[in-house]
Amino acid sequence: MEIASTNPLRVGLRQERVISPQCLVIFGASGDLTHRKLIPALFELFKQRRLPSEFAVLGCARRPWDDNKFRQEMSKPLKDKIKKNPQEWKEFITRLFYEPVNLEHPKDVVKLGKRLEEIDRIKATHANRTFYLSVSPKFYANGCKALTDAGLLKDPKRSRVVIEKPFGRDYISAQSLNRIVQNCALESQIFRIDHYLGKETVQNILVLRFANTIFEPIWNRNYISNIQITSAETVGVEDRAGYYESSGALRDMVQNHLTQMLAITAMEPPGHFDPEAIRNEKAKVIQAAHLANELEPWKCCVRGQYSKGGSSSNPLLGYRDEIGVNPNSTTETYVAMKLFINNWRWQGVPFYIRTGKRLAKRTSEVVLTFREAPVHLFDAAGGAPTSNQLILRIQPNEGAEFKFDVKSPGSGMRSRPVEMEFSYDESFGEPSDEGYVRLLADAMLGDPTLFTRSDEVEAAWRLYTPLLEMIEDSPWQLPTYPYESRTWGPSEADELLAKDQLLWRRP
Ligand code: BG6
Repeated sequence: MEIASTNPLRVGLRQERVISPQCLVIFGASGDLTHRKLIPALFELFKQRRLPSEFAVLGCARRPWDDNKFRQEMSKPLKDKIKKNPQEWKEFITRLFYEPVNLEHPKDVVKLGKRLEEIDRIKATHANRTFYLSVSPKFYANGCKALTDAGLLKDPKRSRVVIEKPFGRDYISAQSLNRIVQNCALESQIFRIDHYLGKETVQNILVLRFANTIFEPIWNRNYISNIQITSAETVGVEDRAGYYESSGALRDMVQNHLTQMLAITAMEPPGHFDPEAIRNEKAKVIQAAHLANELEPWKCCVRGQYSKGGSSSNPLLGYRDEIGVNPNSTTETYVAMKLFINNWRWQGVPFYIRTGKRLAKRTSEVVLTFREAPVHLFDAAGGAPTSNQLILRIQPNEGAEFKFDVKSPGSGMRSRPVEMEFSYDESFGEPSDEGYVRLLADAMLGDPTLFTRSDEVEAAWRLYTPLLEMIEDSPWQLPTYPYESRTWGPSEADELLAKDQLLWRRP
């Protein structure tokens, strides 16, 4: 689906924009995401004076809280920030309200409409509303329907709905959810969130590629031999076993975050910088991606599950021993995979992606390895000659480095790799905002550039659905190999690259 660039926000991400008066309504306000990410992000926007004075947050959930209780609960995880900015917090919380709402009960939704009108009166929010569905995915469809039935999504200029991931469980369910949601609102009102797109360093891939002339001419199959995309975590499943058991790493990380990083790394340059032009290019590249071996996916995909590990002073449980996890669970906490992109730019270049929990180090990065020099004129000081590498560090230690060979000092002519380094911290002196700061602001501005469009989300599910089906129908073909906690995943994932005479980068 190619969508023409008709959006009035043609300036896209170019300049600071002003959020209009509005009320952000959070469904699932008593949940984890609200107090861990959403309220801190809104407070950050407030401190940076990027929220209008006519602004309110209405928290909604089933719990019978009131405004005061909601304000108290939201302040708990922010204790340190509040200590540093007590005056700002005092002002900020006067904008927080709470209404007990069960989206499945039409009476509650009518009550919600009345409360919103009241907030419009008190806070002058002009019936301009962003509805954030931070609820269990099984309520997305009915949540949207309830809002439509209550007339709350009627005005496309004044109402938007933000939907958290996972958007669907596979290709068919994502298609059907898209149909339902698009019956309730225009695509321009729907903001499917992927918080990786809110990360400064992911957006920087676009700037690095398209604001410089030196990269684009070599950003293709003629110069690049392979690309590795990694998102490694040290944490385990934490207290999310209920969700994770039915999701696993493939649905939790690969279909969304890793695929979006791949799309931004591999997309064609858009004709101009507007939301649809960018999303058109991302959608095309995801549609052109395919598993390296579609007929025998077990040859290009490895699943793993962490077992116990750690040290004697800090022993770590295996996944199956975690609270809420089935002791015989085969849910994967690690995935490594080889993909190709079937287009002129990338034909034949393998993309290796991997993600896992309880790995040796927390790191997300994109590594482009360039082809070797055609003739090796010099002996390599460290043994084998190396290839140039561009490493885009998404997190932590945000930045980029470029590896290239120089002459090793001394009388001979031996080559040795060195690194050229860019660090966000050193260059800009301040840490970047959390992804949610950017994304909440963009949703309230109505700028969809950093949100996933319906065709992108469907293409991403279509890419992995054969694997998901195989895992369900014949799990023995894609077993979960155990790996010790705080290591780099199962040895089978190393073999995946060894078959191509390659190694995973150990960041
Ligand atoms: C979430 C996943 O989307 O991303 C989590 O559901 C994961 O399982 C998290 O831990 C990782 O995000 P980040 O920003 O810490 O890399």
